[in-house]
Parts: sequence; C-alpha cells; structure tokens
Amino acid sequence: MMRRKLVAGNWKMHGLKAALPEVAAIARAAAANPGVDVALCVPATLIASAAGVAGGMPVGGQDCHAAEQGAHTGCISAAMLAEAGAALTIVGHSERRADQGETDADVKGKAEAAHRHGLRAILCVGEMLDQRDAGQAEAVVTAQLAGSLPEGAAAEWLAIAYEPVWAIGTGRTPTAADVAAMHGAIRAKLGELLGAEAAAAMRVLYGGSVNGANAAALLGCADVDGALVGGASLTAEKFGPIVEAAAGL
Ligand code: 13P
Repeated sequence: MMRRKLVAGNWKMHGLKAALPEVAAIARAAAANPGVDVALCVPATLIASAAGVAGGMPVGGQDCHAAEQGAHTGCISAAMLAEAGAALTIVGHSERRADQGETDADVKGKAEAAHRHGLRAILCVGEMLDQRDAGQAEAVVTAQLAGSLPEGAAAEWLAIAYEPVWAIGTGRTPTAADVAAMHGAIRAKLGELLGAEAAAAMRVLYGGSVNGANAAALLGCADVDGALVGGASLTAEKFGPIVEAAAGL
C-alpha cells in the first residue's frame, strides 16, 4: 500500500494577520513539492484569510465541537470551520485533552462532526512520560485510539497523529525504533478495529519536535506517513525543509 506523505503544520495559538505572508510562503513550498500533501492548521480567526492566500494548500482548524450548534460559549462548530474555508481540522490534540479535559468520547464526537461537514480530520493520540517510563505507552495509545476512533473512519478523510506528550515542544524525540514500534502498534490496532485493508490505507503521522534536521529520519521510519509539526511550522524557512525531507523519501 503506497501512502502519500502528509506534512501538516499546527500553529496552535500563534498567528495574527501579519503572519499571512508566511502562510503564502509555506504554500509556495508546498506547491514546489507536489509529491507530498501539505496542510496548515491555523487559529480559527485566521482560517478565512489564510485560505485566501494559500492557493491549493488546504488550511485547517485545530479543534471543533461535536455538536452542530448550541450554548457552548467560545467553541467552534465543524460547520463554522468549513464555512470559513477550512478543509480539515485537528481533533484530540494532547494540549486540548490536558487543558480542556477532552475525553476519548469527546474526541470521537468531534471527528464525526468534522466528517459530517466534509472536513478531513487528524486525530491525535500520545502517551505521557510517566506512562512511557512505566512501560504502558503502547497500551495507553492503542486504548486512546480505540476510544476516539470515529464511526466510519476511513483513510479518505481521517489520519492518525502519534504525538508523545513528552516530545511536544521539548526538543526530545523518541528513538527511531520506538517510533516504528508505536506506529506498528497503531496500525495493528487499526487493523483490529477497521480491517486490514482500511488500516493499510490510513496515514499515521508522527508529531513532537520534528524539525528540518530530524524529519528524514523520523519520517523514514516504518509505518510513518508524515508529520504533524508545531513550532517548526510557523515559518516557511523552518517548515520548508520538513516538506522537502518528506518529498525525498
Ligand atoms: P512541536 O513540533 O512544537 O513539538 O509540536 C508538536 C505538536 O504538538 C503538533 O501538533
């Protein structure tokens, strides 16, 4: 099964309109590497204007509510993201699981809402350091996956991102062997849940301190189909080399 690499940026709570030239520069880097899928997930306030300068590069949100609408102050629905020009959204990022107390069931509902509105979704899973140290990483991550996988999950609209919490923003990354082992465990679990064919088609991204220097090694691991990039996605200067590394694999 040939899976196209996907390199997605997650701008988190970074980005005012002054950053739009950077979005355009990242879109040019994406266009220069047509063998790789590139997407950029920006703050909701920036989606419409980013989509306006992104050319063919998909722009996404970073979260959506599971409900269609309602009394949920400060939240954003999948329909709102789509109307603003988003083509995808991240769901279940560990920062939201930790800061907003999102459960696996919440994340499942969010992914299903995204799909109802024609958005693709990147569903994040990942263990904490104490869980890895206790030898529980694979059990934790596969349980998260089982609990948060949406109904109708299919490679056409869903990708999984494995982001070990202790590797996010820290400059630390797992060894290539640990990445390959976890991605293999995720794909095996997908096989149990969705069947072998669907599991073989689904992209499983790695996220956590990916940069231009380590991207080729991380993305070259078995069962790694791309990257979800935080800090190094904020500028074309840093993000471009990651896209190029993916293109070279
Ligand atoms: P960093 O690339 O900054 O470690 O962030 C990873 C991440 O959380 C992407 O969603």
